[in-house]
Amino acid sequence: MERTFVAIKPDGVQRGVMGKVISRFEEKGFKLVAMKFMKVSNDLAEKPYGEHKGKPFLSGLVSFITSGPVLVMVWEGNGIIDTIRKMMGKTNPKDAEVGTIRGDLAIDIGRNIVHGSDGLESAKREISIFFKEEELVNWEPTIHRWIYE
Ligand code: RTP
Ligand code: MG
Repeated sequence: MERTFVAIKPDGVQRGVMGKVISRFEEKGFKLVAMKFMKVSNDLAEKPYGEHKGKPFLSGLVSFITSGPVLVMVWEGNGIIDTIRKMMGKTNPKDAEVGTIRGDLAIDIGRNIVHGSDGLESAKREISIFFKEEELVNWEPTIHRWIYE
């Protein structure tokens, strides 16, 4: 089954919507594999955003991500990478559909609440940046037979 890396950024933490975001993924039927509440160092913040090196918004993004605690998580489920991207909505909340996390809870592109991996490779990379193998919890939700055929 597929895994993805999700982070609730400092704005999501400060605005008290961590529970709401987690609830959406739980209610969908996805399985939580790991979770950590932490302050991110400059070095660590630049790693997942390596693809944006040289872009004008990178320094602002890094100083924002390091400005306060974040909640980093690993979630698992069939097709989870694409589905969580859909559940988050477009990067700029003004273009994000109502019903998505960003469409419902955010206004500004620089305060868009959540990060989610955009593909299999980035998911693998981001999970390994933030979590050790032994921090990824193996467990079998008893409800799975009611979620998957
Ligand atoms: P994320 O990586 O945070 O899940 O967001 P994303 O894939 O939807 O968007 P991405 O292109 O990877 O951009 C990463 C984050 O950088 C900020 N950003 N600002 N001012 C700008 O033009 C701009 N573009 C991107 C956003 O906070 C975005 O989530
Ligand atoms: Mg991205």
